[in-house]
Amino acid sequence: MPQKIAVITSGGDVPGLNACIRAIVHAAHHHGIEVTGVRHGYDGLMNGELQTMNLDTVHDIMQRGGTILHSARSKEFETQVGRQRAAQTLRDAGIEHMIVIGGDGSLTGAGYFAAEHGFKIIGIPKTIDNDVSGTEVCIGYDTAMNTAMQALDRIRDTADSHERMFVIEVMGRDSGYIAYAAGLAGGADGILIPETTTDWQALTGVLKARHSGRRGSLLIVVAEGDESGGAQKIGERLTREFPEEKIGVCVLGHTQRGGAPTAADRILASRFGVAAVEALAAGRTGLMAGLVGGEIVFCPLADVKRKHLDLTAERQKLLELLL
Ligand code: F6P
Repeated sequence: MPQKIAVITSGGDVPGLNACIRAIVHAAHHHGIEVTGVRHGYDGLMNGELQTMNLDTVHDIMQRGGTILHSARSKEFETQVGRQRAAQTLRDAGIEHMIVIGGDGSLTGAGYFAAEHGFKIIGIPKTIDNDVSGTEVCIGYDTAMNTAMQALDRIRDTADSHERMFVIEVMGRDSGYIAYAAGLAGGADGILIPETTTDWQALTGVLKARHSGRRGSLLIVVAEGDESGGAQKIGERLTREFPEEKIGVCVLGHTQRGGAPTAADRILASRFGVAAVEALAAGRTGLMAGLVGGEIVFCPLADVKRKHLDLTAERQKLLELLL
């Protein structure tokens, strides 16, 4: 049984990180394990930024977005020298076990760290982009998707009132998860994602037909990683196609990273946090917790990769019939 576990949040923040930290502290407390928080991600680990965590530290954080430990994207941890410095911090603190809450890059780094220095590590996937293999869903995705959907709803109100056309850009790095889901849930008239190449003629054909039929507003959602180059470029292109229209362009940006986590994210984060502590308590290491078919499963950290939205026949059918 571990005596101490370090917990770290690495990479871009997401709603639900605090819920996960809370679950880790509670589960560890149950086993009599001390928890040490690492501040500022891997940079903080290399610089020895540790803080003791207890039930009081995590008492009222479940509903808060962001991470009380702060986070960072670290270039130095990608090097062996950087990981050596990080290892020294843990050795000095007498810590052999760690839980890393991160995206694909942070989790791959955790795998190297465990293999090089013998630490026992369990990873937990988090990213609004939902692009980590080994899990169907990552912490933060549900909240980001709902935030984007609510933004679409709000834009729809004003767009309807004025019968305007809007292009809305959502985050996702080079994955189309948020755009696909928020677009479907928000009843978009077009969804542009990196996993498909946009047939511009077909899209403008549909938009022209709806526009001439006076169907009120038109909303086009574009993923930031789409090959079209983003909302601004599409807006300019649509302005050429519809010269009489004032096309609205809205980039949702970091609004999608903040805010209170949804119930689904709080519960997922809590499940992952407890599962990670239980795994370390059972002597498991070098694994990432994931959710597959509603169940918690583990895969080797060494196998973690970036994934894309799989446009299954059913997902394609929804695009065909609902846009
Ligand atoms: O990976 C999460 C994410 O929010 C991406 O969707 C986006 O491309 C990127 O991070 C933005 O990063 P930054 O906050 O460094 O601008």
